[in-house]
Amino acid sequence: MTAALWAVIGYLLGSIPFGVILMIAAGKGDPRKSGSGNIGATNVARTGGRSIGLATLLLDGGKGALAVLLARHFGGEAASYAAATAAFLGHCFPVWLRFRGGKGVATHLGLLLALAWPVGLLACATWAAGFFATRISSLSALIAAALAPLWALLLGRPEIALLALILAVLIYIRHVSNIRRLLNGTEPRAGKGR
Ligand code: G3P
Repeated sequence: MTAALWAVIGYLLGSIPFGVILMIAAGKGDPRKSGSGNIGATNVARTGGRSIGLATLLLDGGKGALAVLLARHFGGEAASYAAATAAFLGHCFPVWLRFRGGKGVATHLGLLLALAWPVGLLACATWAAGFFATRISSLSALIAAALAPLWALLLGRPEIALLALILAVLIYIRHVSNIRRLLNGTEPRAGKGR
């Protein structure tokens, strides 16, 4: 199968809006209508509770990882990069939600873990350290995204560094409203709803 076909499969996997599905299934309402309005794990945890937030994190990360693993197994290395990028874009711009999706953080971590687990593990650890220090999910994600290319380079994976750099730019673009709030000191910390 060609990389293009794996990009389509990756996109379709990435576009599954687990946060919305889980929240509605649990009778907690649509996360797009409360908190930050984001469909990601942070806002799901904020508005629906920690368990659904954790499930969203794992499923959003898992779909990125699954896209990469399937593409690499059946299509090879190039297909895995295509699927990774497409899964990320699918999460951010899902056809099912009229292309208004999430910010890509969990999917980014999942796809990095599947592409090269040491890079993914360092990215997860960076997020966790940032969150431990600041209790601000978006700031932790921005730090983790910025450092992921560096971890990939240091681990001798320049091709993954390039992909992580492109995804980091997209993550920053998706976090423009968070960056504004961070700069004016109004971004909420975990446990303090919006
Ligand atoms: O995963 C998204 C996170 O970085 C920010 O989410 O809901 O605080 O905008 P939120």
